[in-house]
Amino acid sequence: MLVIVKEKYEEVSKEAAKLIAAKIRKKPDLVLGLATGSSPLGIYKELIRMHIEEGLDFSKITTFNLDEYIGLPPTHNQSYHYFMKQNLFDHINVDERFVHVPHGMAKDIDKFCSWYEKRIKDAGGIDLQILGIGSNGHIAFNEPGSSLGSRTRIKTLTEKTRLDNARFFADMDEVPKYAITMGVGTIMDSKEIVLIANGKGKANAVKAAAEGPITAMCPASIIQMHQRAYLFADKDASELLIGDYVDNWESVIFE
Ligand code: F6R
Repeated sequence: MLVIVKEKYEEVSKEAAKLIAAKIRKKPDLVLGLATGSSPLGIYKELIRMHIEEGLDFSKITTFNLDEYIGLPPTHNQSYHYFMKQNLFDHINVDERFVHVPHGMAKDIDKFCSWYEKRIKDAGGIDLQILGIGSNGHIAFNEPGSSLGSRTRIKTLTEKTRLDNARFFADMDEVPKYAITMGVGTIMDSKEIVLIANGKGKANAVKAAAEGPITAMCPASIIQMHQRAYLFADKDASELLIGDYVDNWESVIFE
């Protein structure tokens, strides 16, 4: 895993966005995996800026989101559909036909999950997956203990994750208990992975993910096995790392 550290979150986001934009320019029909949550917001802001000011073209890309709460319709203001529209899709020229977010209201969840996996495969696989990391080491909604070979499926959210997300809901009872999530195996099949982490609250998870033993108790740790995974972190999130890191990825990543 290549670790890229910058002082501040804004710089981290800009660097990661620069990498993603370069990939889109190189392959205009890139298949891009997307995450929600606070971590990728800076990347999305920068990609929007590049679209408006530099004409970065998203019209041919295909997107697949990592996850969605079960029981929330796409119009619910805490659904990940809604989040993506608000924070990215409504501000760029992505073609809605090529956008995929798991459907939290699907009647047959298992069937939906199989369809999602097939859809990713039919698109040629995910070229680049953006990931955040939970303070407990989860990626997408693959909580500690998730199978490292898992595929898209329904997962029960841990109390820790529900508590982390409670701030977005009126009260704890409203926080969904289940989600559809890409599996760890699905994520690992992506050709490249950009993991973004910021803040002291992520330092332990980042340490476990980048330098800890590979274990289902920290699902993000499997990324150590990926050939093309890049961790973009700010100083706070990377403060416990003892290994080498770089602050300029361009010479390292581009062939
Ligand atoms: C979101 C997702 C989650 C978040 C993680 C970190 O689609 O899959 O795994 O990436 O919970 O969330 P933030 O970025 O809000 O700290």
